[in-house]
Amino acid sequence: TSRSKLALRGDLLDFTASPAWGQLDSPAVRFQPDHWLLIDEYGRIAGTQGQEPDASWTKQDHRGRLILPGFIDTHVHAPQLDVIASYGAELLDWLNTYTFPAEQRYADPALARRGAARFLDALLAHGTTSAVVFPTVHKVSAEALFEAARSRGMRLIAGKVLMDRHAPDGLRDDVAQAERDCVDLIQRFHGQERLAYAVTVRFAPTSTPAQLAMAGALCRADASLYVQTHVAENRSEVEWVARLFPAARSYLDVYAREGLLHPRAVLAHGIWLDEADRAVLAESGAQVAFCPSSNLFLGSGLFDWVGARAAGFAVSAASDVGGGTSLSMQRTLADGYKVQAMAGQRLTAWVALHAATRGAAEGLGLQHEIGHFGLGTLADVCVWDWARGPVAEARFEVARELHEKLFAWMTLSDERNLVTSLVAGRTRYQRPT
Ligand code: GUN
Ligand code: ZN
Repeated sequence: TSRSKLALRGDLLDFTASPAWGQLDSPAVRFQPDHWLLIDEYGRIAGTQGQEPDASWTKQDHRGRLILPGFIDTHVHAPQLDVIASYGAELLDWLNTYTFPAEQRYADPALARRGAARFLDALLAHGTTSAVVFPTVHKVSAEALFEAARSRGMRLIAGKVLMDRHAPDGLRDDVAQAERDCVDLIQRFHGQERLAYAVTVRFAPTSTPAQLAMAGALCRADASLYVQTHVAENRSEVEWVARLFPAARSYLDVYAREGLLHPRAVLAHGIWLDEADRAVLAESGAQVAFCPSSNLFLGSGLFDWVGARAAGFAVSAASDVGGGTSLSMQRTLADGYKVQAMAGQRLTAWVALHAATRGAAEGLGLQHEIGHFGLGTLADVCVWDWARGPVAEARFEVARELHEKLFAWMTLSDERNLVTSLVAGRTRYQRPT
């Protein structure tokens, strides 16, 4: 479907490469203040330029605002919007007390469809245009999510959650039915428009060895499938996995042995890993989704990003709502800075924002499509106010250096700064005026 060509004017910022750790003046940053971002009639980036484009372009003037590639949230649970901000529990109690009861409701197709629509609209209203998402064990919840993403034109990676033990009634599948559901969903959605399927093992404790083997077989049969799961989040969880899988060298090894670690695997958390695990991750090409808000909220621990860099595996940033307490990627990254500070490390705004845009895209093998303003990528673009409210306004009166500005923006802003979100060049969120 063809539409008019669109040009957005504002302060353009994206990344052309991976910024070095700790470097404030990074050649990987492409900042083009008061430039035009050109979006062609197919919703693709057609270039950036300093001078005003000709009359064939429809113009949107966002002078004095920040224009970024839409954020990519690499780990988030759609049904857990319903339990965000639940009081007082570590992971395993939190799952049983809040999360599993909330997820049971998603057996209802009407509720699943309402939930999927509300979730994706909430992502867009937070400046997140692509995500790697857990629905529930129910096939209908995955269908609802794929359909809702399709109708919004969004890049979405998801898959029915696999869990056949250690979960309440109404929240378990079995190996044979789960395999049939996966095969059907893969046929209907994987590689359709901007959708991709992830073999979604909730985590090692809720899958039998037979189910893990089935998940591995799906991956071997089709190397284009993603994997999403959790690993080494919480110490009690790690001990439980050691008891359940005595033959595995480590928690990560449970997945490695089944062939679930590969370049399209996204593992949330990865806090309690050892050196051997880190080397296995680097060798496999899998990425870890760092979920600082969740890790702090559930008291899980402090992720070692510097250790990840030394080992050489990719790290993206993720909200992990409802363990995390906000869908805002700025809030997530601001929490990430504080987690690294606790380890005596300093997360630059560049490393952080890259992890939520181009870095995540590269980790997912989607850099030809999302994460930056390169020619021909799809125009998933968000326009932000630099400062909103008296505190941020005061800070931006003083800020001079580019890193200083972006760091203050990352630390002080949130979804209230969002003006508009475009998905493949179409407006999908507009702040009410
Ligand atoms: N581990 C297994 N399931 C979950 C979940 O829903 N959230 C988090 N944070 N960790 C998990
Ligand atoms: Zn999670």
